[in-house]
Amino acid sequence: MNNFQFVNPTKIIFGKDEIVKLTKEIPSGSKVLLIYGGGSIKKFGLLDKVKNTLKEYNLGEFGGIEPNPTYETLMKAVDFIRKEKYDFLLAIGGGSVIDGTKFIAAAVPFTNDDPWKLIVEQLPIKNALPFGTVLTLPATGSEMNNGAVVTRKAINAKLPFRNPALFPKFSILDPVYTYTLPKKQIANGVVDAFIHVMEQYMTYPVAGMVQDRFAEGLLLTLIEEGPKALETPEDYNVRANIMWAATLALNGLIGSGVPQDWSTHMIGHEITALYGLDHAQTLAIVFPSMLKIMQKDKAEKILQYSDRIWNIPKNISDADRIALAITKTQDFFETMGVKTRFSDYGLGQEVIEKIVAGLKAHNMVKLGERGAVTPEVAGKVLALSL
Ligand code: NZQ
Ligand code: ZN
Repeated sequence: MNNFQFVNPTKIIFGKDEIVKLTKEIPSGSKVLLIYGGGSIKKFGLLDKVKNTLKEYNLGEFGGIEPNPTYETLMKAVDFIRKEKYDFLLAIGGGSVIDGTKFIAAAVPFTNDDPWKLIVEQLPIKNALPFGTVLTLPATGSEMNNGAVVTRKAINAKLPFRNPALFPKFSILDPVYTYTLPKKQIANGVVDAFIHVMEQYMTYPVAGMVQDRFAEGLLLTLIEEGPKALETPEDYNVRANIMWAATLALNGLIGSGVPQDWSTHMIGHEITALYGLDHAQTLAIVFPSMLKIMQKDKAEKILQYSDRIWNIPKNISDADRIALAITKTQDFFETMGVKTRFSDYGLGQEVIEKIVAGLKAHNMVKLGERGAVTPEVAGKVLALSL
């Protein structure tokens, strides 16, 4: 196992009706800005619930954070907060609202220069506004990690950043709030979480037995519970298990002490920036082809996965076991309703050159656990996904 340090300071408050705990977590007397997306939380009554719970606080609202949150919108929130002097942020929504809030939290006190530099130059973040979250879409793990992904529309760039100052103080995870998710978002969430696990598991063995078994437990849970969430959307335990699996998939635990990949994610970000596909759709397109192209490097772990996750018999050739495991993975995404080819989204050959150029422009030129996914390799992966 590789050396590692692990710290995760986010307090998780999990379960039905736990929203009432908000008042225990937000310091009394705070001036709180409620940050949300396109309005689902208004439609389903969650915003009113939050406001009612926090009625003793001085509250403001900033709505309209879009999926794949943009720098352009987030900077409007930054200006508003600087003017109105809010001192606590509460993100209510999915990964986009939470990621957007992380950027806002870091950008508000960063007054000497353009906060975009916090992302592109990964400048140190000395202080950030404190924030908590109320999660409505299990997928990204943003509710318990210190990363965020922000898009700058004007230059077609979707870039990740992370900083120890950007862990949420707390996150409220009530599975009931996920009942209203459209099927497409349920599926996106399951596929995103699945690929988060895979990007930390599907590399090469370093005798991380604990990490592997944790990862495999999460994969099996997502495979078993994901389709049930589509069929019986109001099954509490199904939703609870998906929610907790998605959080654990990217809170630093399973990735500690093991190599990590993330090439599929970085290529996926370029696809979203250029063509606006949902995050999980891009991953479902790239990941099966990435496994095919990188199968020699990843052979030992793919064989372990084929056995432990898909029960593929060991009496066939290794090449067949690997091929079958990749097919089963792709079939799982399709079963969830997330399509796995560019052609399913009306895109073709023309995308390859642009995506590869995007990777080069953003210096994503040595991706993967061994830095072996160069733009040329990425091009081959994309060609296999047409
Ligand atoms: O905006 P509203 O109206 O709230 O609607 C949202 C949005 O349209 C809707 N939604 C959310 N909760 C709902 C709901 N609709 C009904 N009922 C509910 N309970 O779902 C739509 C998608 O929301 P979004 O937040 O965009 O989805 P997701 O959670 O998948 O987040 C995606 C973003 O997170 C980034 C992605 O790149 C993308 O920008 N990621 C962040 C990561 C991180 N911070 O660690 C890691 C991930 O790999 C990912 O890159
Ligand atoms: Zn993701």
